[in-house]
Order: sequence, then C-alpha cells, then structure tokens
Amino acid sequence: MDDKKKAGRYSRIYKQLKDLLIKTDDPLARMASICAVLHHKMDYYFWTGFYLLKEGRLVVGPYQGPVACQELEKDKGVCWAAVNRAAPVLVEDVHAFPGHIACDSRSLSEITLPVYDTKGQIVAVFDVDSSSKASFNEVDQKALSEIIALIFSTE
Ligand code: SME
Repeated sequence: MDDKKKAGRYSRIYKQLKDLLIKTDDPLARMASICAVLHHKMDYYFWTGFYLLKEGRLVVGPYQGPVACQELEKDKGVCWAAVNRAAPVLVEDVHAFPGHIACDSRSLSEITLPVYDTKGQIVAVFDVDSSSKASFNEVDQKALSEIIALIFSTE
C-alpha cells in the first residue's frame, strides 16, 4: 500500500476509534477494540495485539490473528526491545533481528510500540506482524502512536 493511501486509511480509522473508545474508559476494552478495527481494516496486518507488562513480564493481552505466544522471554525479541528502548521498533525483516521471537513462522516484518499510562509508565506493548517483508514504515509508526495514545485518553 502506498504511503498516501495508508495515511488516508489510518486517518479514517483514528476517527472511528475515537468515537468508539469514548464509550468506556476501560483500557483492556479499548485495546480489544483497537485490535479488532485495525486487524480487519488493514489488509497487510497478519497479527495485531497487545502484550501487557505485568510485574516485569510481558503477557499476551487482547489480540486478533493466529494463536500467539502467551508470555515472551524477558529482554528478548522485538516487543521487549520497545520496552527497553522506551521507543517504537520497526523491523523490515524479522530474520535479521537478533533474538526475534517467532510465534508464527509466517510473520516476516513487525512493528512494536510502547503503551504509556497517564503517569507516563509503560504498561503494555502494541505489536503488529505482517506476512510480507518491510510492510511498516514511519507512516504506520506515527498513526499507531496516535491510536494507542487513545487507550488512556480522557478526551
Ligand atoms: N515477535 C515478537 C513476539 C510476539 S509475536 O510476534 C505475536 C517478539 O519478537 O517480541
């Protein structure tokens, strides 16, 4: 998908989610809705979900797609990299990422973003996998950062 089409689709999804998420302030319910909407509207998304940071462990939360790893080995892989760097991680080729955790061998590229609560603490990671290489870029990163900021928003 070209960047212009991608940006347009994200913009429509953002508006739809903003109207939907305001109906509850529960973060898990909001995460579930974000996964469902994105997964079904972005055709290059193969796995879409959250890992929750609980007492130093990353445990799977709401997701859409094939069955995923329930818990991720500490400090290994792309999700932990987003926590430890406190920044999004874009991976064009998962096989070139040292320590990548393959929950499903069909995943070839990936993006992970830390999710912050209202105190600025990382409480989860948002993770999207694609079955094609290099599916994600700065357009996805910017749009997804804005979307996951809605999880703890009160507006
Ligand atoms: N690939 C991730 C693990 C989670 S799955 O992609 C659903 C990682 O390396 O952390």
